[in-house]
Amino acid sequence: MAVERTFSIIKPDATARNLGGAINAMIEKAGLRIVAQKRVLISRAQAETFYGVHRERPFFRELVDFMTSGPVVVQVLEGENAIVRYRDLMGATDPAKAAANTIRKAFAQSIGENSVHGSDAADTAQKEIAQFFSANEIVG
Ligand code: CMP
Repeated sequence: MAVERTFSIIKPDATARNLGGAINAMIEKAGLRIVAQKRVLISRAQAETFYGVHRERPFFRELVDFMTSGPVVVQVLEGENAIVRYRDLMGATDPAKAAANTIRKAFAQSIGENSVHGSDAADTAQKEIAQFFSANEIVG
């Protein structure tokens, strides 16, 4: 199985509740390595670019407002099959549908305020990582 990198965001609802450490503990317990991490405030322009694929969706403005409402922790996670493994660990977008032992089951508050983001495929992971990290900030 290939070692992959995926992009993760610990979202403002989670940083506001001081859950960064608890989420990182779940990530590491699941066998993924945090090979880059920084706490940042993202601009509206950054959020609009990042979520560009959702621009026509009715929740787009709400999503951008939320993602710029407070600090986030952007991360690069590494491991075998990391993209799917992190999506499994996050759980369903809607916390009401999230399985037991997932981050969203444990911490998410709603579909919008759902504590974490993870890339959905290899090409998006590469683009999302490049939006927030330069190569020398990722130390495997
Ligand atoms: P994320 O994995 O960051 O990717 C897109 C985000 O859009 C998703 O998580 C949700 O937080 C958000 N989202 C999806 N559906 C809705 C919705 N119906 N209302 C508000 N936000 C949504």
